[in-house]
Amino acid sequence: MLKGKKVILGITGSIAAYKSATIVRLLVKAGAEVKVIMTPAAVGFIAPLTLSTLSKNEVLSALSENETWSNHVMLGRWADVMLLAPLSCNTLSKMAHGTCDNLLMAVYLSATCPVVVAPAMDEDMWLHPSTKANIETIRSYGNKVIPVNNGELASGLIGAGRMAEPEEIIHWLEIFFNQEKDLSGKKVLVSAGPTYEAIDPVRFIGNHSSGKMGIAIAEECFQRGASVTLVLGPTHEKVNGNISITNVTSAQQMYDACLSEFETSDIAIMCAAVADYAPVNPASEKIKKSESPLHIELKNTPDILKTLGQLKKPGQLVAGFALETNNERENALKKLQSKNADMIVLNSLQDAGAGFGHPTNKITIFDKSGKEYRFDTKLKTAIAADIINTLINIAHA
Ligand code: CTP
Repeated sequence: MLKGKKVILGITGSIAAYKSATIVRLLVKAGAEVKVIMTPAAVGFIAPLTLSTLSKNEVLSALSENETWSNHVMLGRWADVMLLAPLSCNTLSKMAHGTCDNLLMAVYLSATCPVVVAPAMDEDMWLHPSTKANIETIRSYGNKVIPVNNGELASGLIGAGRMAEPEEIIHWLEIFFNQEKDLSGKKVLVSAGPTYEAIDPVRFIGNHSSGKMGIAIAEECFQRGASVTLVLGPTHEKVNGNISITNVTSAQQMYDACLSEFETSDIAIMCAAVADYAPVNPASEKIKKSESPLHIELKNTPDILKTLGQLKKPGQLVAGFALETNNERENALKKLQSKNADMIVLNSLQDAGAGFGHPTNKITIFDKSGKEYRFDTKLKTAIAADIINTLINIAHA
């Protein structure tokens, strides 16, 4: 299961770093390729020579060495997984706050692969509210945390905070890589984010969509083995995973990009908050302020979901969203029908913790057979899994 996997092992300054040699040995034995990156503090706990010998690769620890710059972006893209073991309290805090003061942090911040951490620290540090908050923060970024063990600690005290044993860490990774890849072989098209419709070169008509929900769906599909194309409106949100991204600005561009991908897609999930209207004649120069009111003539933009619903061939699945502020159920069911979708995900702006910009969402799904699936308020990453599970159930029904 770990055969052929590319692993970056990040080692930080903790006494548990001596166990990293065993982690490298077990990973290599299982057939993985390992590249080790150490923080400057880790070098005091275990010799890089031990790790380079075991990993059969050069051990990296500085952003530049011998006048040569280490390409942290390519390292982060090379790996199938980045494992930080042991993860010290200090590096945990840096991960939570985006501090970039060494090579390991630079690779972490630019990594597109899943990141797994095995924390190690004394019990008082582990139980401190700031550590708990930092763990929750890195979890909310999508990082996975291998639970700590109870036992003898560096301080001589007995308690929680011991790093999971190397064998446990390897077992955890094996389970992680063996997760069901139920979308393997499938091509999924996802639209996400807002669209901006130009009024003139500096102004636009847009909306508050952050793209978080659609990005979480694209990442979930990728994790489950799909080949994913994400057509993404303007956003600053980061996308993890090997996902093909087409950046667009306007509804027309999003329409063109989605249509060119749809024919070869098995599943299309239209999550974007597409502007329904665009200025008929965007001005080529900045419109100057005047005393009289400004009238902008608007035209309808193409309805992407509706077009895909019309073009849909047997075997293709199309899902859409309905963002409603009133008559939610009725409006969602209308959209399901008028857009010929297989499934509509309703989120109501009436629900606390749902809608634009929130890390959480609360949804109800309707399918063509009239079934209704209700879900509690959850993180958008967990909602994404619910949506994909429901879509797969509908496909098999
Ligand atoms: N949608 C689309 N293209 C558009 C408008 C909407 O693909 N031009 C998709 C959205 O991505 C979403 C679904 O249609 O999956 C519903 O979007 P929503 O804004 O809720 O509904 P509209 O069809 O725009 O209708 P209204 O704004 O009147 O509620």
